[in-house]
Amino acid sequence: MTEWKYCRFIMVIGSLTVLFLVGRLLELPLKKTIIGPFVIHPGGTTKNKTSNTTLAVNDAFTRAAKTQAARKRHLTHYCRTHSKNPELPDKQRLGQLLVDDDENYIFCSVPKVASTTIKGILLSLRNDSDKIEKFSVHTPSLWQHMSQFNITENSKRLMTHFKFLFVREPFHRLLSAYKDKFWGSNRIYTNGFRRIIVQEFRPQDIETISTTANNVTFNEFLRYILTYPDSFISRDDHWKQYGNLCFPCVIQFDFIGHYEKLDDDATYLLKLAGIDDRVVFPPIHSSRADDDFLKFYSQVPHQLIFRIGEIFKKDFEMFGYSFPGPLKELLTNYTVNTNSDSRET
Ligand SMILES: *[C@@H]1O[C@H](CO)[C@@H](O)[C@H](O)[C@H]1NC(C)=O
Ligand SMILES: *[C@@H]1O[C@H](CO)[C@@H](O)[C@H](O)[C@H]1NC(C)=O
Ligand SMILES: *[C@@H]1O[C@H](CO)[C@@H](O)[C@H](O)[C@H]1NC(C)=O
Ligand SMILES: *[C@@H]1O[C@H](CO)[C@@H](O)[C@H](O)[C@H]1NC(C)=O
Ligand SMILES: *[C@@H]1O[C@H](CO)[C@@H](O)[C@H](O)[C@H]1NC(C)=O
Ligand SMILES: *[C@@H]1O[C@H](CO)[C@@H](O)[C@H](O)[C@H]1NC(C)=O
Repeated sequence: MTEWKYCRFIMVIGSLTVLFLVGRLLELPLKKTIIGPFVIHPGGTTKNKTSNTTLAVNDAFTRAAKTQAARKRHLTHYCRTHSKNPELPDKQRLGQLLVDDDENYIFCSVPKVASTTIKGILLSLRNDSDKIEKFSVHTPSLWQHMSQFNITENSKRLMTHFKFLFVREPFHRLLSAYKDKFWGSNRIYTNGFRRIIVQEFRPQDIETISTTANNVTFNEFLRYILTYPDSFISRDDHWKQYGNLCFPCVIQFDFIGHYEKLDDDATYLLKLAGIDDRVVFPPIHSSRADDDFLKFYSQVPHQLIFRIGEIFKKDFEMFGYSFPGPLKELLTNYTVNTNSDSRET
């Protein structure tokens, strides 16, 4: 009698366990994709974690969620086919990954992709934002970087924090970096770079260092990157490849923003992160880089454009930017003579 009872008991436990496991299995496709105040399920329904209710989602929000899902699918597919067993690199290389343990996020800050605006927003979330306003948002001491922590601490954060980044069409980013750092008021940053580049291509023109000396053309800038892809100039963060700044095949980003869709993406990001009631994303005036984009690139030899495309190929492919994309009309009459591989997407 008692034995039978035990037997039933064990059977019940067994069935429950099986049910539980099946439940877990069935739940797998519904695995949450976002860590944050909201859980986004594939299909675009949104659940409020605090109240356990389903939100009435408007069309824009649903569209943004679908766009996110598509971008992440694209990246996952890219990484599966191009990146075998990716590992987190040495912590020294994680300097662009900003960490906030109060707000629980990791932001990969890509220079020339609205990073100033986004950093400003993130700082304004902090209680000491008054103090912060005195400094440039790029002051390193205002931030915690993943490069400060060891692998154990970083792995833990990667599991708990909301991870996001913004990227931009690579040709536009390169031109924007050139215009800002080689022509704009920030060009003091490249005093040394410009001298080295002029020395390389036009040694007879070399001038003593000053902010206005040693102007470098866009051509020369691109040519230098191509000629010395491993030099410290080529590896500068302002034009370094996304793969070497953010490691998107190692770090599974919860949100991938596109600069070209900044308005939609930023609104959705703030909502997703549950901070849309505390901060607003200021309107970004469309970059002046766009106005003369084709003018700059029309002066670059086609061969050079294709070779730059080769160097930044992963950036195009990982984030779904087409090559030559915005330069297509410039290159219509150019025929590639190398073995062309699948460049589209
Ligand atoms: C989620 O639910 C909580 C608790 O009911 C509520 O305070 C909060 O406003 C909800 N969030 C949204 C975005 O509806
Ligand atoms: C929401 O549901 C989960 C699991 O179903 C439960 O643990 C949690 O307490 C619920 N939260 C609220 C606020 O009802
Ligand atoms: C900021 O201040 C509010 C209210 O004083 C407090 O509830 C919150 O925990 C503080 N946040 C941080 C990150 O210190
Ligand atoms: C990582 O850092 C933490 C905190 O400083 C420390 O307790 C831990 O031992 C470190 N782990 C390794 C592997 O160095
Ligand atoms: C170099 O560029 C700056 C900024 O565009 C300009 O003001 C300056 O006249 C240029 N210098 C020369 C020698 O061309
Ligand atoms: C390409 O070639 C056609 C025909 O020769 C010409 O009309 C057109 O202007 C060329 N396009 C460019 C961008 O050079």
